[in-house]
Amino acid sequence: GGVASDQRHDSAHKHVDGSAIYIDDMPEPAGTLHGCLGLSTVAHGTIRSIDLMGVRSASGVVDVLTASDVPGENDISPTGRHDEPVLADGEVQFHGQPIFAVIAGTREEARRACRLAKIEYDELPAIIDVADAGRQGAKLVTPPLTLSRGDAAGAIAKAPRRLKGQMRVGGQDHFYLEGHIAMAVPGEDDDVTVYSSTQHPSEVQHMVSHALGVPSHAVTVEIRRMGGGFGGKETQSNQFAAIAAIAAKRLGRAVKIRPDRDDDMTATGKRHDFLIDYEVGFDDDGKIRGVDFSYAARCGFSSDLSGPVTDRALFHCDNAYFYPAVKAVSAPLYTNTVSNTAFRGFGGPQGMVGAERVIDEVAFATGKDPLEIRKLNFYGTSDRNVTPYHQTVEDNIIQRIVAELEESSDYARRRRTIDAFNANSRVIKRGLALTPVKFGISFTATHFNQAGALVHVYTDGSVHLNHGGTEMGQGLYVKVAQVVAEEFQIDIDQVKITATTTGKVPNTSATAASSGSDLNGMAARNAARTIRNRLADFAAEKYAVPLDQIEFLPNRVRIGNQQIAFADLVKQAYMARIQLSAAGFYKTPKIHWNRDKGQGHPFYYFAYGASVSEVSIDTLTGEYVVERTDILHETGRSLNRAIDLGQIEGGFIQGMGWLTTEELVWDEKGRLRTHAPSTYKIPLASDRPKIFNVRLADWPENSEPTIHRSKAVGEPPLMLAMSVLHALSDAVASVADHRICPRLDTPATPERVLMAVERLRAEA
Ligand code: MTE
Ligand code: MOS
Repeated sequence: GGVASDQRHDSAHKHVDGSAIYIDDMPEPAGTLHGCLGLSTVAHGTIRSIDLMGVRSASGVVDVLTASDVPGENDISPTGRHDEPVLADGEVQFHGQPIFAVIAGTREEARRACRLAKIEYDELPAIIDVADAGRQGAKLVTPPLTLSRGDAAGAIAKAPRRLKGQMRVGGQDHFYLEGHIAMAVPGEDDDVTVYSSTQHPSEVQHMVSHALGVPSHAVTVEIRRMGGGFGGKETQSNQFAAIAAIAAKRLGRAVKIRPDRDDDMTATGKRHDFLIDYEVGFDDDGKIRGVDFSYAARCGFSSDLSGPVTDRALFHCDNAYFYPAVKAVSAPLYTNTVSNTAFRGFGGPQGMVGAERVIDEVAFATGKDPLEIRKLNFYGTSDRNVTPYHQTVEDNIIQRIVAELEESSDYARRRRTIDAFNANSRVIKRGLALTPVKFGISFTATHFNQAGALVHVYTDGSVHLNHGGTEMGQGLYVKVAQVVAEEFQIDIDQVKITATTTGKVPNTSATAASSGSDLNGMAARNAARTIRNRLADFAAEKYAVPLDQIEFLPNRVRIGNQQIAFADLVKQAYMARIQLSAAGFYKTPKIHWNRDKGQGHPFYYFAYGASVSEVSIDTLTGEYVVERTDILHETGRSLNRAIDLGQIEGGFIQGMGWLTTEELVWDEKGRLRTHAPSTYKIPLASDRPKIFNVRLADWPENSEPTIHRSKAVGEPPLMLAMSVLHALSDAVASVADHRICPRLDTPATPERVLMAVERLRAEA
């Protein structure tokens, strides 16, 4: 039951049979009220008048809150920039911004009442698109980052060949199955308990306490599980939690807010879309001499996490490639749209897509297979190994991964087969691409790389486990339970997994940056090890044997020549007044980062992977199918191969949706027109590759001393989906004999594929 055993997800059967309890499934305290948020109907303006009479007198309405009803600070900005109100005050900055909250007897009553508000605005000019934002003087939500090594401009100018271009990379809605939700239960004095679907309970606690104007100790935030977070619940839960808590304290009754899907999609932040400008200098073989990147992002109306997200885009502008000289600059642009936020990969995917576009351009310019250009430019293992942020890549295995995958996927033979197929097929064209992933693991803000855990051993030998990480479906809880079971050598069903709560482990970081198991696994192991050491010391003393004669065996303990049950030793230790509870703590070693200089060692290590995808496109309609995908992804010595495979498959499919069919459309008035599954297309089961071969590269010799030498797996696989984008590019390119770069922007919807086909046919 310990580590490296392929435990199923602790709640898998409950997810299927419906017995897993999400916040909306919890029994409601007597008298629970329900909230609905009233949203702005203009993208930018001042509120001239606000008439909520109709709302207040509507059936079932108990209370209506506006900005002036926020007892503490009207701010939920996670970075302390004070640029994100709980409820808009005087000015609205995007279409869909919450202005008021209705609290009613039922959810339906609250929703109906919301529509009766009469709000008049004096509209102001609105900046919706990144391109407009850039043109109109570029107001930034947070200072930009510059990474630079060597003389990029000089290297590009001196290179035998050079080219430049621009790429648009689309955003993405999180589309978690469980939308945002918060239920606040008031206690006595200042106290309130908030059940919040959040990846970041400590931050919800702090935001609720600021908004209420009470100390953190008065606020407890608890979450057993989310039905998906994907980064969308790292900061975006704050608003719902704060409003529910304010209403609950005001009314002395429990208040629950669960926006419907349209409101959730309209009012909460998404993955940033980017406009990437690039210039590259290279030689006739396709070896890159120098690159210059600018990454402009639509950040929305407030800073939220846009600084760190756009930073991470730059951190991954190299993907797996060495640039002899490089300059990359971010532009986190203010727009009158919802404030964009974390999403699996946290800007890294957008950064990498830029790198892969440059590779594609060089390949078409030199007339070579893009895979050849990729291999030519990979980081070296002993030289050519310094990143744009001056961290040396010490664990590079991309050559090994790619060589194994190229072989196992039969790349070379299929490349020839596809060329032959395309030569004979007029309408349907096939494409093939192999793309690498190198993803940095750690929060780039060094202080977030810490975690705590709390372990109790009860006198029957059963164990209560708590830690600061949250479960969003990724399998963190079962992995950490495995670590604790391993430490005590007990069966996993002896370890009780418990809800994350700020009352047990304080000051936690968001469960994010894929570091949940690295951080919380270590903290929990340290807590369990403290107790195990106490048990061992006690046994050695009581049985008068040397400490090295104490050995924890499966569910038993060997003490010299005899063995007793683990539970018996625990009971004896209790009788001897040995403390059977411990807190554990961990902080990641080795990391540091100086943002002003753009230099440091922000990542503890890198996770690597690669994928090969084959697609076929219909050149008359632009429609396509993924025929086959092969993945080889590295997880170190996997804590749980079943969970890791699930993360890789899910991440890949989610990435494929981002790069192909998921399109966010804002109209010129700043209204999001894609706010329901009818207009926003996430991948269906039928969209998955027809053949899907996923393998783990569990090569522990490569790892830092992480928890049992495993590697983080949550985000990196999303970026494996780039092989689908590039296979589409390859298929499109075949209509012009691979002489023109299709420059496919993302999402590469069927329309974009069709337009690219027509452009290439016209140019050829
Ligand atoms: N997997 C599932 N099923 N649901 C999720 O919401 N979030 C992803 C990833 N995998 C997510 C998921 C994101 S954005 C991150 S950062 C990691 O899980 C966080 O968990 P970890 O650090 O435990 O890997
Ligand atoms: Mo993940 S985007 O770091 O929550």
